[in-house]
Amino acid sequence: MPDSITITDNRSGQSMEIPIRDGGVSAGEWSKLLPGIWFYDPGFLSTAPCESAITYLDGDAGVLRYRGYPIEQLAEQSTFLEVAYLLLFGELPDPAQFTAWTDEITHHTFIHENVRKRFLEGFHYDAHPMGMLVSAVAALSTFYLDAKEIHDPVSRHRQIVRLIAKMPTLAAAAHRFSVGMPFVYPDNSLGYPENFLSMMWKIAEPRYEADPALARALDVLFILHADHEQNCSTTALRTVASAHADPYSAAAAACAALYGPRHGGANEAVIRMLTEIGSFDQVDDFVAAVKAGHGRLQGFGHRVYKSYDPRAKIIKRAADQVFAVTGKNPLLDIALKLEEVALSDEYFLSRRLYPNVDFYSGLIYQAMGFPIEMFPVLFAIPRTAGWMAHWVELLDQDTKIARPRQLYVGAGERDYVGIAGRPASPKAPPQR
Ligand code: ACO
Repeated sequence: MPDSITITDNRSGQSMEIPIRDGGVSAGEWSKLLPGIWFYDPGFLSTAPCESAITYLDGDAGVLRYRGYPIEQLAEQSTFLEVAYLLLFGELPDPAQFTAWTDEITHHTFIHENVRKRFLEGFHYDAHPMGMLVSAVAALSTFYLDAKEIHDPVSRHRQIVRLIAKMPTLAAAAHRFSVGMPFVYPDNSLGYPENFLSMMWKIAEPRYEADPALARALDVLFILHADHEQNCSTTALRTVASAHADPYSAAAAACAALYGPRHGGANEAVIRMLTEIGSFDQVDDFVAAVKAGHGRLQGFGHRVYKSYDPRAKIIKRAADQVFAVTGKNPLLDIALKLEEVALSDEYFLSRRLYPNVDFYSGLIYQAMGFPIEMFPVLFAIPRTAGWMAHWVELLDQDTKIARPRQLYVGAGERDYVGIAGRPASPKAPPQR
């Protein structure tokens, strides 16, 4: 049987056979037969805007691989910086490459004093740290004017190193400002997660020593969040980057997408939901209310995964390691019971709703002392590696500017009427 589809334009009777390649069909071929007929696909449910060799995802089987390597093996044996290298350059580094890469990242962690003193400290005292991060990442483009040289491989590499190195510094600075604590400078003698924890929590001690189990758990969470193919924030980045904007502006757009509760804010929603449920014996009633259409089970379901999210399994193990140090998050029992009830309920099984990565990540972050507002910020730090891998891939593919079409459903042509001659309009802006 040929690996192709045949489409027929019933208006003209013309047919065309289009080959199926890598699981897709080319819209270019389609438009040869049907120029001016657009795919109506809100939310891009059936649209692949690019080819990518970075991350493989099989939602039915619950498979996630970075550059071919199963996420389970990377979470078990690798580190975030090694995974960042893998995502960016396609192969795991050899020892010399890894030493050089780690050295580069470590020596770009400082931010310009004006970014902190003038820019970050200019925010209102109760500014949300994610709002600060979105703006600070965009502001970096004004400090590194060479970032516009997007076709120069050396400049590209420099901006990638800067972004991955400075994200933890910006993130911790935003947190320290929001709680009125002094900024902590990066410590180049520390590893990537240890340095971030130092910038977050250091008070008066000469050197902050993170608990190794917590630093490792954070590194594993960073690995799990490093990339997830064409998600909302990566799509935002690719769209802005397709206009050849500098990488800081494109990454700021990605951060802004991640700020949304449907994307980077879901684990915050999980914590609020578990807090609202309040106790173990309220779980059945809560699930019954969800089934009756009152809200959703936060941290359950996924656009792509229609079986258990492989990241959720790994996170559940990491949670045990963190709680062994911090003490159990009191919301854990409610979460476990909720998972047990939902996974034995026909409503969730028939809709293929399983826990996603966010079901447990918030519990871990909360037990480690991170305020809820920092959850999307914690997501943005590792996802920067994935964003930059997609940025390079997009530029190397020399893609066209992202410019979708629309199905126009508005008014037909009509003549302008001067204000004095207009009847009262039924449409008006909402009033308080
Ligand atoms: N709780 C209860 N019912 C649900 C849930 C849920 N969490 N998710 C989906 N459903 C139901 C829907 O009501 C719908 O039921 P119906 O067929 O009877 O109408 C069916 O399952 C399909 O739902 P859709 O909204 O069409 O699924 P979609 O793929 O568009 O949504 C999403 C995916 C947004 C993740 C959804 O499952 C959801 O809202 N989950 C809760 C929020 C969440 O955890 N988001 C994190 C995603 S992971 C990430 O971004 C890192």
